[in-house]
Amino acid sequence: MAILEIKRYPEDVLKRKAEPVKEINGKLQTLIDDMIETMYAAPGIGLAAPQVGVSKRLIVVDTGYKEGKSSLITIINPEISLSEEIIDSEEGCLSVPGHIVTIKRSARVIVRGLDRNGRPLEIEAEGLLARAFQHEIDHLNGILIIDRLGPFRRELLKKKILKERHQTSQR
Ligand code: NI
Repeated sequence: MAILEIKRYPEDVLKRKAEPVKEINGKLQTLIDDMIETMYAAPGIGLAAPQVGVSKRLIVVDTGYKEGKSSLITIINPEISLSEEIIDSEEGCLSVPGHIVTIKRSARVIVRGLDRNGRPLEIEAEGLLARAFQHEIDHLNGILIIDRLGPFRRELLKKKILKERHQTSQR
């Protein structure tokens, strides 16, 4: 297993719509293992393949391990059904480090896809897990938390991030 480099905004791979996984092979299993290790090392509660530079529809999520209640979920080609109830959600992102933003999310979701062995999987989620699924599946569609903000807050945050990036690169 290996810890992979996490891509940061504004890298192109984060803005692209990821391709469906067509074949579950050894290479994919290695990618899954590496994504899991990278997520735990970060540490984060979820990671999508585009965040490690792979434009494929694959996510890993574990919302419980920080509290000692690990519940690792790997989903290949996830599809999401959203509830109509919308709630405010505070979120950060490993690809937008150092920024927590409040955005609107569905309160509940149903996610369908394949597990890492190719077996169909369906999960009903609410709370943190529902938010994590929506966040990670957004990554597969090229959407970052920045894009979920209103136009004014979005421009402000973009400017702030690019300024920080500029200052860091001058050090
Ligand atoms: Ni993220």
